[in-house]
Amino acid sequence: MTYLGIDIGTSGVKAFLIGSDGHPLGEASARAVEPVRPHPGWSEQNPADWWTATLEAIDRLGAAHPAELAAVRGIGLSGHMHGATLLHKDEQVLRPYILWNDGRAADECAEMERALPNLRDIAGNIAMPGFTAPKIAWVRKHEPEIFERIARVLLPKAYVRLLLTGEAVEEMSDAAGTLWLDVGRRDWSDELLAVTGLDRSHMPRLVEGSAPAGALKRDLAARWGMSGTVVVAGGAGDNAAAACGIGAVRPGEGFVSLGTSGVLFVSNDRFRPNTRGAVHAFCHAIPATWHQMGVILSATDSLNWLSRITGQDPAALSGAAEAGFRGPGEEIFLPYLSGERTPHNNAGARGTFVGLSHSTDPALMAQAVMEGVAFAFRDCKRVLNDAGTALGRLIAVGGGSKSELWLRLIATNLDTEIALPADGDFGGALGAARLGLCAAEGADPLSVMTMPAIRRVIAPDRALSQAYSDQYARYRALYPAIEDARERASDPAIEEARK
Ligand code: XUL
Repeated sequence: MTYLGIDIGTSGVKAFLIGSDGHPLGEASARAVEPVRPHPGWSEQNPADWWTATLEAIDRLGAAHPAELAAVRGIGLSGHMHGATLLHKDEQVLRPYILWNDGRAADECAEMERALPNLRDIAGNIAMPGFTAPKIAWVRKHEPEIFERIARVLLPKAYVRLLLTGEAVEEMSDAAGTLWLDVGRRDWSDELLAVTGLDRSHMPRLVEGSAPAGALKRDLAARWGMSGTVVVAGGAGDNAAAACGIGAVRPGEGFVSLGTSGVLFVSNDRFRPNTRGAVHAFCHAIPATWHQMGVILSATDSLNWLSRITGQDPAALSGAAEAGFRGPGEEIFLPYLSGERTPHNNAGARGTFVGLSHSTDPALMAQAVMEGVAFAFRDCKRVLNDAGTALGRLIAVGGGSKSELWLRLIATNLDTEIALPADGDFGGALGAARLGLCAAEGADPLSVMTMPAIRRVIAPDRALSQAYSDQYARYRALYPAIEDARERASDPAIEEARK
């Protein structure tokens, strides 16, 4: 018996196979077309690309491991969160998908919070432009002819599930990021839906992530040589799926993810919102479990940006930073290239470099970028602590965790040990496969979601703690000063005076 995890990421799909004992058997990936940014702050993708990449990744897995793929009994899905696939009643996609890192709906967030003053109490979260509901409010205002035709709104993995099984089903962890879920009660909220002119008929049916959500269509099962009923699990949003993959499911267990976005994740035994610090308080993918996250929007994406403008690849930049590293320097970087969620909740914030001089080179800039991301995580830790959550050792996941220096900077700034799994970065795809196993076999999620063997533990560098506390204080002082200056710069009276 085998189980398949499908992780629908922003830049591609990964398919991952495990055996009944949870052991990895093989993986394959396919790239998706990168999101486009038709206007500053927008981010869109074509849902058909996820489907093409999903088929391609599973076909590749089948080519390398035909017998193992044919033995699949359960499939789990993981996907990037918060976006909105808008479907017509014939299931045609009505417009390009608006992604999690799209910041266009800031005005709509304010309008929603005015329309429903207890919105934050029900949703457990601030209305942030990245979330799904404000995007629909934007479509309702700016594209009313499309809004009128919406029959169903699905998150990425629910759209892929629809094509895999023919059923519109969502699970709690991803649903929590829509702003339509009563997160404490784990059910759609009629009040929250009504704020954006929708009702339950527009929503998929809800299940727990580790529960069955449908069966794979016969023609697809035949394509991959599978026989009998192949159960498709609820699955999880990518962060909850990563938590299932690294065994962060018991209270206090957590991880730090250095992907396109950055996440500081901790598992909770109850619903624990802290909207003042822009903490995300969501359902976990297993029953009666919740989690909190601090989310920063540009983690490896900040280094990717530096790579684009310097023409050096990200690994070369981080390698050069590591080779010349001597602790904090003059350069400071604020990583708000796509605006920021935690702790500022400001889609209009922008990235900043300060302290440049004639001796600033790409290596020093790369170091400052990595430090800026570490400081952004330090901000996340601060607001999670404010919510009464204590963080212990964290497991590192995501592409950026290949950089030893980056992990050391994060360990030092969070003042906690960072553990690196021995078996590479399986993240969400392994978690999804584990959820597929639970759904197909009725296994207890807590016994399936074990922690990986640890290859290496990176401890805080105590010799640099004070220097980084001082640099962090400078970093924190910059955001309000720069925002103030930017507001002044866009003040019409000041613009007029400049002429
Ligand atoms: C979480 C979030 C991101 C995306 C990235 O709130 O927006 O982590 O899920 O895929």
